Amino acid sequence: MTGPRPGEPVPAAPGTPPWWRTAVVYQLYPRSFADASGDGIGDLEGIRAHLDHLSWLGVDALWLSPIYPSPMADAGYDVSDHRDVDPVFGDLETFDRLVAEVHARGMRLMLDWVPNHTSDQHPWFLDSRSSRDSPRRSWYLWRDGTPDAPPNNWLAQFTGGPAWTWDERTGQWYLHLFLPEQPDLDWSEPAVREAMHEVLRFWLRRGVDGFRADVVHLIGKDPALPDHPPELVGTNIVHSHDLPVTHELLRGIRAVLDEFPGDRAMVGEVNLRSPALVAPYHGAGDELHLAFNFLPMLGPWDADFWRSAISETLAALTAVGAWPTWVLSNHDNPRHRTRYGGSEQRARAAAVLLLTLPGTPFLYAGEELGLEDAAVAPEQQVDPGGRDGCRAPVPWTPDPGHGWPTEPWLPFPPAAAARSAAAQRADPTSVLALYRRLLAARRRSPALHRGSWTAVPAPDGVLAYERRAEGDRRVVAVNFRDAPADLLLTESTTVEVASTGRGEGTAWSGTLQGSEGVVLIPTPT
Ligand code: GLC
Repeated sequence: MTGPRPGEPVPAAPGTPPWWRTAVVYQLYPRSFADASGDGIGDLEGIRAHLDHLSWLGVDALWLSPIYPSPMADAGYDVSDHRDVDPVFGDLETFDRLVAEVHARGMRLMLDWVPNHTSDQHPWFLDSRSSRDSPRRSWYLWRDGTPDAPPNNWLAQFTGGPAWTWDERTGQWYLHLFLPEQPDLDWSEPAVREAMHEVLRFWLRRGVDGFRADVVHLIGKDPALPDHPPELVGTNIVHSHDLPVTHELLRGIRAVLDEFPGDRAMVGEVNLRSPALVAPYHGAGDELHLAFNFLPMLGPWDADFWRSAISETLAALTAVGAWPTWVLSNHDNPRHRTRYGGSEQRARAAAVLLLTLPGTPFLYAGEELGLEDAAVAPEQQVDPGGRDGCRAPVPWTPDPGHGWPTEPWLPFPPAAAARSAAAQRADPTSVLALYRRLLAARRRSPALHRGSWTAVPAPDGVLAYERRAEGDRRVVAVNFRDAPADLLLTESTTVEVASTGRGEGTAWSGTLQGSEGVVLIPTPT
């Protein structure tokens, strides 16, 4: 594997970068963020009521998981109306107020956009399904066959069964890469492209700053829908979905964003796992602005793993002039604190890493509180994909209701009182206070939010690097092991932020505690 090595800097972003290169994006899961209506499910008014908290924290942009009308077979990733808000979350008026208030605080708002499929209750699919002669039959992927033999060997996510459902009435199969309630759209149909472009315009006109595009690598399909190679059947990594036609579609989508002023941006979920496979989805600056980099999220808490994941990411993306992203937690995977064994110290050190790498970091609501996944009893489980644990409600206050007017739709995560936002705001040693210090340090340092990156030699178990921009430098060191480690630097430095809070504002001792991460300011000579 090739990649930047010590002494080989990754170049800084040229000129004044657009907002999505320097922003820290905060993902909110609307069902679980805050409930204003009192039905136990979070909503837009709940989000609005906590905007001051988010601007106090210091994030730059919010991404909302889907808020559209939906039967909620997949928690809103099954959209039944692209141009409205599900009543459980509010309405368009509440949404407009939210956009205005986000902007008034100098933040940006991104929506989830689900282009690959709709709900089976969407009027488009109801129409498509109504008859083989429906004008919308060609909007979805219908194939002939017999009820006992699906058209190919593709399996559906979450069910593990065939990615095809037989429609008795019209005697054909329809394709669904996810649940049967989520039929795939056929993007080769011009009317589908136009309709989905219009969906983007609808929200862009309402002032959204961009979108997170759900499984966007899946929209291009080989019309022959060939079998997957046997070894990939049932895996999440199916390279047969990595097709040239998708790039053409992405250029069309990008052109829609570019019709609007103000740096509207799209971050794509391109779930191909390898940075080299994801990099081309940025095109020549004419496809996605950003794409999620899931490689580090799927690996262990290990310095060597991270060093090579960073190198691999930077090598693949700088080769095409693309800007990296970093993510530790989201609504589809166990939270990073849980993945890293529940250790608060590791979760803190991971925050130092996430917020000091070159690229756009994505935080997932609740990680700034050091939350772990909730234990969800079988009878409380909602998600067909088994992802309820990371979707537990955010605890706002230490009292038993934790700031939720009624019992929420899922149980709270462990230690909800101590980890509540209010308890942690009052405690300068809390995880929340650490995130706030890191976000402030990142914002005030050009080196951290847009500078170059160079690995610095470090002992086993430690990852160290320098960030550098004109007139500004930082050195970052993270100890992935639980035992202390000495790191010899060739210059004297001052601790700006320590994941443990230890020694901030004083000369650095040269020793990292176990599972400690530090941001160091070189002493000017
Ligand atoms: C994406 C979403 C996930 C959803 C799936 C189908 O992976 O992040 O939550 O279930 O797409 O839309």
